[in-house]
Amino acid sequence: MLGSSTVAVPDAHPVPRHVAIILDGNGRWAKKRLLPRVAGHKRGLDAVRETVKGCAEMGVEYLTLFAFSTENWRRPAEEVSFLMGLFISALEREAKRLHERNIRLKVIGSRERFAPELQARIVAAEALTAANTGLTLAIAADYGGRWDILNAVNQLIAEGASHISEDTLYGRLSFGDAPEPDLFIRTGGEQRISNFLLWQLAYSELYFTDLLWPDFDRQALEAAIASYRQRERRYGRTSEQLPPDQQRG
Ligand code: IPE
Ligand code: IPE
Ligand code: MG
Repeated sequence: MLGSSTVAVPDAHPVPRHVAIILDGNGRWAKKRLLPRVAGHKRGLDAVRETVKGCAEMGVEYLTLFAFSTENWRRPAEEVSFLMGLFISALEREAKRLHERNIRLKVIGSRERFAPELQARIVAAEALTAANTGLTLAIAADYGGRWDILNAVNQLIAEGASHISEDTLYGRLSFGDAPEPDLFIRTGGEQRISNFLLWQLAYSELYFTDLLWPDFDRQALEAAIASYRQRERRYGRTSEQLPPDQQRG
C-alpha cells in the first residue's frame, strides 16, 4: 500500500523517488531562434531523452513528464497534429531503447481522442516494457489533473462505492501505483500547475526554473535535485520534531 502524505508522514529520501516535470518553453525556444514553434518541440524530445537517462542514473524510481494537457487541444490544429505525429514517431523509435534499458513506460491520460494508430503504439510500447524493473516513466498526454480525479471518482461509483477514502481514490488515479511526487519541476519561467497532478502534488517540493525545456540538461536536473535536498519536508510538523538529519538550517 502506498502511504498517503496526508495520512502518514512518508519516509525521507535523499534522492527523490518520484520526479514530475512540466516541460514548458519549447515554443519560446524556437521563437528566439526565428524557427517555427514545432522546431522547439523536436528539440524538446532530445531534452526528454537526456532527462530520462539522468533520472535513471541518479536512482529516481518514477518520472512523470507532462507532454500534452487536456487544454492543449485548444492550440492551432497544425501544432496539435505535429505533436501527435511526434508522439507516434517517438514511440516507434524509443520503445525498444527504453526496453533495453529496463525502463517501464506508461502513458497516463484519457487517450480517447488520439488516432487509432497512436493508441495502438501506446498499447504496444506499454506491453513491451511492462515487466521492466528499472525507472518507471509516465508520459502524461491528454492528461488533466481534474480529469484524473473525476475519472477515479467515476470508477469508484461504477464499482458501487458508498464511501471514498484517500487510499481508494489514490489507487484509481492514472498513476496510482506510483508514490506521490517528491519533486515537481516546471521549466519555462511560468509559476503555475496548469492542471497537472492536482491530487498528488499536495506535499511535493516545487521547483521553477526560467530555462526553456530544450535547454534543460543534466546540469539543470542536478541543480533541481540539489535544491530538493536543501528542503525541509515538514508535512505539517515543526522543524524541531524532525529527526536531526532531516532538519535544514
Ligand atoms: C511545452 O512547450 C510543450 C507543450 C505544451 C506541448 P510550449 O509549446 O508550451 O512552449 P511555450 O510555452 O509556448 O514556449
Ligand atoms: C503545460 O504547458 C502543459 C504541458 C507542458 C504539456 P502549457 O504551455 O500548455 O501551459 P499554460 O497554458 O502556459 O499554462
Ligand atoms: Mg507553454
